[in-house]
Amino acid sequence: MTSIDDLGTDRLRDHVAAQLTRSRARSAALTDAVDEHDLVRQHSKLMSPLVWDFAHIGNQEELWLVRDVGGREPVRSDIDELYDAFKHSRSSRPELPLLGPAEARRYVAEVRDKVFDVLETTRFEGRRLLDGGFAFGMIVQHEQQHDETMLATHQLRVGAPVLDAPPPPPGSPLPVSEVLVPGGYFTMGTSTEAWALDNERPAHQARTDPFFIDTAPVTNARYAAFIDAGGYTDERWWSEAGWAHVQQAKLVAPRFWERVGAEWYRDRFGVVAPVVPDEPVVHVSFHEAEAYAKWAGKRLPTEVEWEKAARFDPATGRSRRYPWGDEEPTELHANLGQRHLQPAPVGAYPAGASALGVHQLIGDVWEWTSSDFHGYTGFEVFPYAEYSQVFFGPEYKVLRGGSFGADPAAVRSTFRNWDYPIRRQIFAGFRCARDAEAAELS
Ligand SMILES: [Fe+2]
Repeated sequence: MTSIDDLGTDRLRDHVAAQLTRSRARSAALTDAVDEHDLVRQHSKLMSPLVWDFAHIGNQEELWLVRDVGGREPVRSDIDELYDAFKHSRSSRPELPLLGPAEARRYVAEVRDKVFDVLETTRFEGRRLLDGGFAFGMIVQHEQQHDETMLATHQLRVGAPVLDAPPPPPGSPLPVSEVLVPGGYFTMGTSTEAWALDNERPAHQARTDPFFIDTAPVTNARYAAFIDAGGYTDERWWSEAGWAHVQQAKLVAPRFWERVGAEWYRDRFGVVAPVVPDEPVVHVSFHEAEAYAKWAGKRLPTEVEWEKAARFDPATGRSRRYPWGDEEPTELHANLGQRHLQPAPVGAYPAGASALGVHQLIGDVWEWTSSDFHGYTGFEVFPYAEYSQVFFGPEYKVLRGGSFGADPAAVRSTFRNWDYPIRRQIFAGFRCARDAEAAELS
């Protein structure tokens, strides 16, 4: 498949059904992996109980696909309020009269039955919500995004490991550590990607100066060198907000790292093992990423620079859908979809490199950028302001590219994620960039 726009109605219906089934299999695996107690308890104040995420997935699906698209009677209108993410903070959700695990499973299954019914008769036309199956695509992405959130809850859960996956492919050293991205305009965002969300739209011309960007995310080895050099206790490398936070939160290393003797160990889904040197560092905040970059004599890329490094093809002047081209991600391109439970080492995906030779932009770790989250010029709310518009502003930093826990359905080179600059429970790392000096351009 090249793009959803090329599919006929029947094939689009099959594609939607397959995506819905795939996302539900993942949600089921994440919730079946633990017992009832682990489903209802709160593993961290930062996260909802897993059973809340699960029923919330079903509730959003009911609101948009059963009631709105299908025009059907509510399955359970009495619970809408409980699963409205804007009515109850994550930390308060355990106190709510939530559906128990068995009831939640019955509810999401009943909603899904009705959705397949609706899908049978839906014609993907007549309303913008239906163009290219957008409403279904939005719900697939919503479920996959909550699955990644549930995976982050698993990472915070204490107890014996319950998740398992094969290791990622081996890495290999890259020929160069950074590449020059030429200055000038390129096409950023999209107006044609059928399932792109409102904040990725519209396509527009964006300009950068020439800059260098790292060909790989910053590795554990490099990050450990920053720690060993006293990075966490040297105010010079930190912004004012970052320095205040690192002291107040007493940060000394990425989250889930612990020093045993001379070596760093990490706890990953309940498995404690030595940190692997050539894997991208993960579970660092924006502040830590920014401090590392300054220590390294570099800086974080802006969101515009990140997208240009990912999409711009200097041979044709056009922007690709993905770094490697226009075709959907396969397991040769990127580490996505929880296929592996960790970032892959640097150089593990040569087929996924961008036209400019930048590796592992998609998958492995979300990458912090230096940009605040804002709407592009021409932004229009669609289909609801709570999807992204209410988050626009300087409190949030943009992350790009998706992690090993992000599904291919919910990641593109135009996809934008955002979070608070202090967050570390998400699967976030970063790569560095720097301005090109005049002497380097001749
Ligand atoms: Fe949600």
